[in-house]
Amino acid sequence: MEAQLPTSPDAPAGPVHDPFRPSAHTGLLIAALRARAATFASDSGLDMGLGSGTVLAVLGQIGVRRLFGVDIDPDALNATASLLRTLDMTDRATLRQGSLWEPVEGQRFSVIAANLPQFAADEPADPDHTPYWSSAGEDGRRFMDPFLAGLDRHLLPDGVALIAHNVFLGQDRTAALLRRDGLTCQAVAETSVLLHPRKAAMLNPALRARGPACGIHRVGCYDFIDVQVLEIRRATP
Ligand SMILES: C[S@@+](CC[C@H](N)C(=O)[O-])C[C@H]1O[C@@H](n2cnc3c(N)ncnc32)[C@H](O)[C@@H]1O
Repeated sequence: MEAQLPTSPDAPAGPVHDPFRPSAHTGLLIAALRARAATFASDSGLDMGLGSGTVLAVLGQIGVRRLFGVDIDPDALNATASLLRTLDMTDRATLRQGSLWEPVEGQRFSVIAANLPQFAADEPADPDHTPYWSSAGEDGRRFMDPFLAGLDRHLLPDGVALIAHNVFLGQDRTAALLRRDGLTCQAVAETSVLLHPRKAAMLNPALRARGPACGIHRVGCYDFIDVQVLEIRRATP
């Protein structure tokens, strides 16, 4: 039986060992979604890479009517379904298992949110989460690049995407990819995130050597990476 910690008197407690526990990246992304909610249409929203489903639930809380979510990990769909049940959002949601755009091919959305795996490591690096959670190859772009390549054909004409984006990925590189499809990006939030020591040890050494120049900071024995939320829209002519 999973041990439970009390949260508040009227809320069910969450599991102590939760492989889908939302992270500091999640927190930054949901704060940006709330702050920017008045600037995008609310007919349909997609959360790419559901995990616990927290980001999808926040889309629902800010008034997005039809909710769609994708994850490669079937257990993430179960976790999301369970969270949405507690929030009475099940009727508004469609959850699909599969990789990136494949499960929603042919669909377009008013708002797309994503906190994809984007840690620069080849092996699973996150000791607290599932093996799918975090690692994305030596530059961290294994999932980011195909995600960005599909955005244009999945955003409605006035659609907006908000994505968590590690600074070491290089905003210029992301902007150049988006520009080819007539999209632009701007950072609307930024913070520094403490790395678990085991995760810090797995960070690509070439990137680590670049240090603050690419948003990687060491403070004594503590390692931080900077993370942004990028807001992506169609460029105005
Ligand atoms: C960093 S976690 C973020 C989870 C959640 N959105 C959050 O912010 O807490 C990344 C999620 O992407 C999922 N994922 C990994 N590879 C994927 C892929 N190819 N297609 C869709 N989802 C993927 C993982 O299973 C994981 O749930």
